[in-house]
Amino acid sequence: MSNLKSDEFVSDPRIQKARELVLEALSDHQAKLTRIADADPDTADHYDALIDQFKQARGNPLFYPYIGSGFGNGTLVELKDGSVKYDMISGIGVHIMGHSNKQLLASSFDAMLGDTIMQGNLQQNAESLELMQRFIRLAAKNGAKIEHCFLSTSGATANENALKIAMQKNAPASRVLAFEHCFMGRTLALASLTDKDAYRVGLPKTVDVDYIPFYDANDHLGSIRRAVKALETCIQRYPKKHALMCFEMIQGEGGYYPGHHDFFYALMMILKQHHIAVFVDEIQSFGRTENAFAFQTFKLDKFIDILCVGKMTQVCATLFVDEYQWKPGLISQTFTGATASIYAANTILAELENGDYFGEHGRNMQIAQVFASEFDAMNERHPGMISGPYGYGIMIAFTAYDGSLDMTKKAIHALYKNGVIAFVAGKDPYRMRFLPSAAVITDDDIKNVCEILERTLLDIHEEANKED
Ligand SMILES: Cc1ncc(COP(=O)(O)O)c(C=O)c1O
Repeated sequence: MSNLKSDEFVSDPRIQKARELVLEALSDHQAKLTRIADADPDTADHYDALIDQFKQARGNPLFYPYIGSGFGNGTLVELKDGSVKYDMISGIGVHIMGHSNKQLLASSFDAMLGDTIMQGNLQQNAESLELMQRFIRLAAKNGAKIEHCFLSTSGATANENALKIAMQKNAPASRVLAFEHCFMGRTLALASLTDKDAYRVGLPKTVDVDYIPFYDANDHLGSIRRAVKALETCIQRYPKKHALMCFEMIQGEGGYYPGHHDFFYALMMILKQHHIAVFVDEIQSFGRTENAFAFQTFKLDKFIDILCVGKMTQVCATLFVDEYQWKPGLISQTFTGATASIYAANTILAELENGDYFGEHGRNMQIAQVFASEFDAMNERHPGMISGPYGYGIMIAFTAYDGSLDMTKKAIHALYKNGVIAFVAGKDPYRMRFLPSAAVITDDDIKNVCEILERTLLDIHEEANKED
């Protein structure tokens, strides 16, 4: 029996009663939010003013006129203007349990009873250890030699920590290998790595990066040959100068292009021969394929030295093999996460571990399949309307008509207006992407979303024809 005051406090019947009542109230109120709705016209002026204030406060306009009310039901989210929309982007891959999820409300309630709002590297509670051990267990499940885990509050910080760990171990090697069109985050170092000019306008170069062309599914062997050749050339040009190579198993911001086992295998073999760290950025791909990690889906476990997770994990983390243990002082931050996010992360990882998301016929692949058949049907009715889905599992992208910037922008904003929130990815062609909340999205939700998508794309097409 524990003598801890914390256990006495948490199990106090008044607390348990309050917890029950909160969850009961959630169910009652969620029962009233079951379909999309237009904005309340009476709120229009006030809402527009709030949007302007947002623009003023952040110094830049919002992508969408989105201000959440803080309430939702599954994939449905309520906005401050009274409208209700299907959230198909879920905070760009964060809300895997949907909006106002009961399990997460319960875990937030439990977190609320904790002594601090935030936890940090100097003082952490037992739930942080539980989380680190869960991450390690999941990552090492199929044989990866991951033994350690360091928590942080953003994907970019996790990636920065990964770079530092790899560079310290392999010093004085400091060059980085990365794929063309990769996205790694937006710190000063990562802006040098992320292969997008617009994200580093006016910034100094902080890291020397050598880019390797990514996998091309239309030219399997050719793309492997080209990438191997490029990698060998870089290594010959700068012998012993590369500390690590960064891998996105499925390019996210770059346009939802998955790689292939053979492609990654060929490159990783060369990296191992040259003692260059294999670093996998799973910030967007975690939890979205047939396994918790995409590197497990591509069967590359034995190669992985360092990996990062974020987004749906709520707390971000850098995981690594023992060989990459860092020297004291290299990495630390005040915050590892909010207590609520640490509790939520444990709840989500337990759900992923114990639920039926993974495997060839798991929920992730079922969701992908329902989208695929809806897109096929749409294309049969309206040839050329949509191509895709691209991506992998529940990283779902598609191209609307010609995939031009103009068409994609029009489509994405019209879709938003009609009640579905999506986002863009890639370039030439531009794609639209969905990161659905796998824990809650139903097949009916997918059908409803695709119905709205079809209607929206038809309207845009008609409009464009009128303009011609
Ligand atoms: C693959 C990948 N790496 C890193 C990041 C950066 O994560 P964050 O935005 O949490 O800093 C992202 C975010 O979109 C990502 O998709």
